[in-house]
Amino acid sequence: MDVFSCVITMVALVLAFLMVVVAGNLYQDVDVTWGDGRGTILNNGQLLTLSLDKASGSGFQSKNQYLYGKIDMQIKLVSGNSAGTVTAYYLRSEGSLWDEIDFEFLGNLSGDPYVVHTNVYTQGKGSREQQFYLWFDPTADFHTYSFLWNPAHVV
Ligand SMILES: *[C@@H]1O[C@H](CO)[C@@H](O)[C@H](O)[C@H]1NC(C)=O
Repeated sequence: MDVFSCVITMVALVLAFLMVVVAGNLYQDVDVTWGDGRGTILNNGQLLTLSLDKASGSGFQSKNQYLYGKIDMQIKLVSGNSAGTVTAYYLRSEGSLWDEIDFEFLGNLSGDPYVVHTNVYTQGKGSREQQFYLWFDPTADFHTYSFLWNPAHVV
């Protein structure tokens, strides 16, 4: 029942964001849903890049819905002055009483850390926010951010 999406929004500078997919083919698995050319699938469907400029960001979404599973997203975040940018990676079911699992990476000034913001919604209700400082530099390289969800647990 969940669709996964990755969205990068708001903007001060021209910066790039990249995502690598290990299995499957991105042409078959996802749609670039917005970005007017700023979201692109490359390397025969193995790499998806999202970028942002002064006008807007970009995003994509899975074509299929999944009742349970594990998704590993490899993300390298915008470096330098990323204040005002939000990179969000989330699962969301459809309807007005939706379920949702979120990662949001809130950009910051050069040298100040990204704050990672997580939330879980069940039946349209959130208020389970948590914030984390990462113990590594999320802009220096790709790191894997995973969701594991099944009828009993969200990890
Ligand atoms: C930016 O970094 C500062 C210094 O650590 C921190 O207090 C602040 O919460 C951060 N802001 C955001 C939006 O991440």
